Amino acid sequence: PARPTLERDVVVIGAGPAGLMAAYTLKKAGKSVAVIEARQRVGGRTWNGAVRDINGTEHFIEIGGQWISPDQTRLISLVDELGLKTFKRYRDGDSVYLSPDGTRHTYSGDLMPVSDTTNAEMEKLIGLLNTKVMEMDVERPWEMPDATALDSISFTAWLKQHSDDQEAIDNVSIFVASGMLTKPAHTFSALQAILMAASAGSFSNLVDEDFILDERVVGGMQSVSLKMAEYLGDDVFLGSPVRQLNWTTERDPATADQLNNVVADVRNGVANNGAPGEVIAYADEVIVKAANAVLAVPPNLYHRIQYVPPMPREQMVAHQHLSMGLVIKIHAIYETPFWRAKGLSGTGFGGGHMVQEVYDNTNYGPNAANGTEGEDPHGVLVSFISDVHAEAMWALPEEERKHRILSELAAYLGEEAMHPIAFYLSDMGAEEWTRGAYAASYDLGGLSRWGDLQNQPTGPIYYACSDIAAEGYQHVDGAVRQGELAANSILQYATVSA
Ligand code: FDA
Repeated sequence: PARPTLERDVVVIGAGPAGLMAAYTLKKAGKSVAVIEARQRVGGRTWNGAVRDINGTEHFIEIGGQWISPDQTRLISLVDELGLKTFKRYRDGDSVYLSPDGTRHTYSGDLMPVSDTTNAEMEKLIGLLNTKVMEMDVERPWEMPDATALDSISFTAWLKQHSDDQEAIDNVSIFVASGMLTKPAHTFSALQAILMAASAGSFSNLVDEDFILDERVVGGMQSVSLKMAEYLGDDVFLGSPVRQLNWTTERDPATADQLNNVVADVRNGVANNGAPGEVIAYADEVIVKAANAVLAVPPNLYHRIQYVPPMPREQMVAHQHLSMGLVIKIHAIYETPFWRAKGLSGTGFGGGHMVQEVYDNTNYGPNAANGTEGEDPHGVLVSFISDVHAEAMWALPEEERKHRILSELAAYLGEEAMHPIAFYLSDMGAEEWTRGAYAASYDLGGLSRWGDLQNQPTGPIYYACSDIAAEGYQHVDGAVRQGELAANSILQYATVSA
């Protein structure tokens, strides 16, 4: 059957939190929208799932993004506006530190139980990074003093310039490398690392797991997208990848000059990018004609769409330097949270180890086993294996992989960790419409070279996703901020040209 052709004010490509926030904001302001999504579900990198235990009982898991931190104020207010609730991550009891030689230490408070010299080195490095964060305008990292120099040195090399204590370097670098960008610290720049910290307020915030992994949404983070999609109703088209996007800046030649003049006032005379033009999105199930498009897919997927005419040279080149990291999210479910009975919080760190972080991820809410709101009696551990370690794990046969991973969890929390009733590995690297996790970052030198382009619209096409966000970079908060920014920019043009 022929695909229907629809006419809307704005077509949004991608129904992750960024695209849905753009459409939700535009529709509330009276614009007509269509959101076109490749997958058979909304939410993108946020995804509520279930895993069966050995008795066939289903347990709720969050395959993708889940945590909210206190600085993520736009997401927090949106969660509230959508009528959703949050709950705190369990954190009572001692944390575990695995030293480089594998010795296990328990500790309380923020300070890892390292030697006094290593501790002093860590404090020095964190202090230096906090200072750099203060020199950075998170919306314009490429303008900070020494941006080019900081962008031409890897984060590892930069840390080594300031310390020769390998344990301190490993323990500081995990908060950006395996912990956030999910790339080895020698593959991205010091500038990129400073942006990661600046987007969360400070480097100290990244180091503080009680801050950065503070809360989860009752019912899962995907609920944020599901609620917005509910409001959008029939304006969301699933299972329909956009293959081609035709665009022109001149929707109506008779008014284009007039419009351009107004737009020039708004944008200080800089071209007419962002102004309404005409776009035609060709997707598998639908064709949508609109005045603007919001491209709300991660940058590593921009080139899966053919643009007619092609995007400007500088955009096509820049997009090739943003790539996804790679991480396996581990979900291990137990009859009970056995670590709590031993006075442990479930939190563990071990810079340099395969599993460098582990947390209590016990469920709360309507997904609890007895169907009422409250904490699920089953204990859940969540853990991550990043970049080269993730590759090594995927290369193993399934049973051996599981054994290796559980052995690492046992090194932190005890032998009981070897016997989960259910086990699941999130594999976003194998997802056609994501291809990695958690988000995209520039290769060495890319941020200072192309960063200023990433949020500039191309003709009537706006970009929005967490991967090019300032505050909330790489996170759901950054995605919703980006979606709202694109929507407000479109609405602003409509106001000035009316
Ligand atoms: P997102 O990728 O979510 O959405 C893009 C959408 O576009 C997808 O639905 C995709 O299918 C669609 N699409 C792609 N190409 C298309 C095409 N050609 N046509 C139509 N549709 C197309 N964040 C956080 O805040 N806290 C956390 O704890 C975590 N943890 C975490 C764990 C894991 C395992 C992952 C993978 C990610 C996280 N994140 C996170 C990151 C967070 O999930 C991510 O930043 C946001 O989901 C990004 O939202 P966007 O809307 O920008 O992209």
